[in-house]
Amino acid sequence: MELEAFIGEVADRIVGYLHAGDKPGKVAEPVPYTSLSRTTDLKIPLEGHGMNAVLDDIDAYLRSCVKTNRPEFMNPLWGGINTVGLAGEIIASLTNTSMYTYELAPLATLIEDTLLKRMGEIVGFESGAGTLTTGGSNGNMLGMLCARQAMNPSSTQSGFDGRKMVAYVSSEAHYSVLMAANVIGIGHQNVVKVACDEGGCMRPSALQEEIERTRREGGVPFCVVSTAGTTVRGAFDPVKDIGDIAHANGLWHHVDAAWGGSALFSSKHRLLMDGVEFADSVCWDAHKMMGLPLICSAFLVKDSELLARLCAHGEVAHYLFHEDSKEIDSGRYSLQCGRRNDALKLWLAWRECGDAGWAKLVDRFMELADYLELKVQQHESLEMMSSRMWTNVCFRFTPQGYEGDLNELNSEIRNRMMQNGNFMVSRSNIGNDVVFRSVITNPKITEQTLDNFLEEITRICGDVVRGMPSEQPFSSS
Ligand SMILES: Cc1ncc(COP(=O)(O)O)c(C=O)c1O
Repeated sequence: MELEAFIGEVADRIVGYLHAGDKPGKVAEPVPYTSLSRTTDLKIPLEGHGMNAVLDDIDAYLRSCVKTNRPEFMNPLWGGINTVGLAGEIIASLTNTSMYTYELAPLATLIEDTLLKRMGEIVGFESGAGTLTTGGSNGNMLGMLCARQAMNPSSTQSGFDGRKMVAYVSSEAHYSVLMAANVIGIGHQNVVKVACDEGGCMRPSALQEEIERTRREGGVPFCVVSTAGTTVRGAFDPVKDIGDIAHANGLWHHVDAAWGGSALFSSKHRLLMDGVEFADSVCWDAHKMMGLPLICSAFLVKDSELLARLCAHGEVAHYLFHEDSKEIDSGRYSLQCGRRNDALKLWLAWRECGDAGWAKLVDRFMELADYLELKVQQHESLEMMSSRMWTNVCFRFTPQGYEGDLNELNSEIRNRMMQNGNFMVSRSNIGNDVVFRSVITNPKITEQTLDNFLEEITRICGDVVRGMPSEQPFSSS
């Protein structure tokens, strides 16, 4: 097949997929992996199948994938697709480069530099530095590594010095902090999970107590990670108060704003991040609320020299890094060697919509989350399971007079919702309770989508309750 024809066929499929997201349809057709692996030809052939067959493979893939661009997809902390971002992703793949040197990625390097400076300014790190990473998990790991470097500047060379280094996070922090503890060498046991208040925000007084306890027990506190937008409830730790305690105790303060960082665009909601400007480092995912295709994630640090020292491995790679471009080579601020050009899509999307566009998006998502929360509160069989700060709306069914196990009931409703494939919303836990965690971060969601969602799960709840051995009274409203 000719190049033009092949690319034309692929482009048609892209457009078809995007349009299908606006028509009635399913988010997913759930198939057990045992069946999917039997019904799909997955074999790697000895002799190639040729380009026409590739188009069939693409069709098979598109048929079976989860339609994350549909409004009914409200499962993880991302959803939908920014069309300009998609264009950037395609062009970045087309021009296939790696982000280590200016020589190999001239304009991409300047674009990334521009983005990191702008995001740094928005955070309040006027003369900081940063890098685009493989995600918020990696950003948290870099934050903790910077903390290690600040506490023990020779650790990049000599590793840990045998002291028991301890980090502090909210008990509702993302699991990547534990992963980071593993990677940087302190281990899970040396991450203290600080108690939260009823809304899921870290209690500053509990943090101070934990730091003192560590010292009494001979440990060395070195890092506090606060979360701006927790994974389940969307809670914002009191960043300023936590930062004050961290610094008063001589500790590094990293803010995990992977999910909540976009609040900074909104004059209505940026107070949620108050005090982030005093932090030492921040991670912020543009592939979450800003809707860029995965992956697009920034790690920002106030002390640019510290990040450069942490990544000083550039000095040994003589085949790549040269003195004359030392000022600008972005590989000197990264732990990766080969690194995707994730900057282009964010830059193009930002140029299209400006800061004002992101602010509008955030405010609209919050409006929709308010709407869903209100509907839940007005529904006599639903109950909000947490106060709300961000666009996570956590609730469950508690039908009047229902005497069965609510966790079983809500799990079953969610299972059937997944089987139907009309909506996708996460099942999470708050304490011992199973909850629906719906997340508004998909620009296609409207009030109508949310009404349809509640209608669907209310209907399912009715079916579940009626199907139980001893019928329970249930009213759906
Ligand atoms: C609060 C928080 N931090 C970090 C992460 C990890 O981000 P990523 O998936 O980009 O690695 C997540 C992911 O959902 C998160 O919710």
